[in-house]
Amino acid sequence: MTGILDGRVAIVTGAARGIGQATAALLAEHGARVVCADLDGDALKQTVELLGGRGVAVAGDLTDPAVPQELVARAIEEYGQLDILVNNAGYTWDGIFHKMTDEQLTAMLDIHLVVPFRLLRAAAPVLREAAKRDAAQGREVFRKVVNVVSISGTMGNVGQANYSAAKSALVGLTKTLAKEWGPLKINVNAVAFGFVETRLTAATADAGTFDRGDRQIQLGIPAQIREQAAARIPLGRGATPAEAAGGIFLLCTPWSNFVHGQVVTVAGGQSEGMS
Ligand SMILES: NC(=O)c1ccc[n+]([C@@H]2O[C@H](COP(=O)([O-])OP(=O)(O)OC[C@H]3O[C@@H](n4cnc5c(N)ncnc54)[C@H](O)[C@@H]3O)[C@@H](O)[C@H]2O)c1
Repeated sequence: MTGILDGRVAIVTGAARGIGQATAALLAEHGARVVCADLDGDALKQTVELLGGRGVAVAGDLTDPAVPQELVARAIEEYGQLDILVNNAGYTWDGIFHKMTDEQLTAMLDIHLVVPFRLLRAAAPVLREAAKRDAAQGREVFRKVVNVVSISGTMGNVGQANYSAAKSALVGLTKTLAKEWGPLKINVNAVAFGFVETRLTAATADAGTFDRGDRQIQLGIPAQIREQAAARIPLGRGATPAEAAGGIFLLCTPWSNFVHGQVVTVAGGQSEGMS
């Protein structure tokens, strides 16, 4: 069977579960080979099993400055190229603004801005050299960067000043890089998700924690906010991870070659902030 992404190599961060896992699976289903990155090595193994031999796992904390470079190196070592980069890894550390700590702010900036920045910078030589080689041979080949943001970043959300500021910063990076890398035919876009059913949006009692050093950060949202969420979404419910992955996938295919420097909202029609 031929797939639209045959011969393409992708990196997907945060691929152990949720949107990242669904994205890795969808890219692989359509022919790509995927370097899957996540903090959670055990869960990541399950993702790679889903890919049926079309992927490898790199376990590590992406906020470690060495890890983004390791990921790019692994893509080259394993597959000899890199064509698609999906910056998806993330979590939330909510709190009301007047009680928010510096640590809460910097943690969100680290994972949602600094990590994509470092990964893109590590990938830059590989992506740019490939683009220049193609151009020298008279070939126009599009490569793809998709940065995962949130309508919390584009519209605001109560309790997420840190998260929305970090996602909004990633929008700025997306738009600037689109201008710098456009001549190289590297599409740089962002996808702004609304409500997607993952552990980040599970009821607080069910969501579990994100373990960061000796800290356990509560994930999820209050049950009452969850119940109200559907009413704000014209499609009447949150997205499944597979539906969210569809939004990322579109921006990884040739059909989006002229979509560039955009924030594509994938939120079931939701057009206001989340609370
Ligand atoms: N779920 C939603 O409603 C929603 C809405 C808007 C945006 N998003 C964004 O989508 C992305 C994926 O979220 P999800 O809902 O699938 O959450 P998830 O918790 O299901 O998956 C996120 C993955 O990222 C990994 N990760 C987090 N920090 C990491 C680090 N330092 N190093 C390596 N891996 C790390 C986690 O281990 C986890 O496996 C995030 O960037 C999130 O902010 C989600």
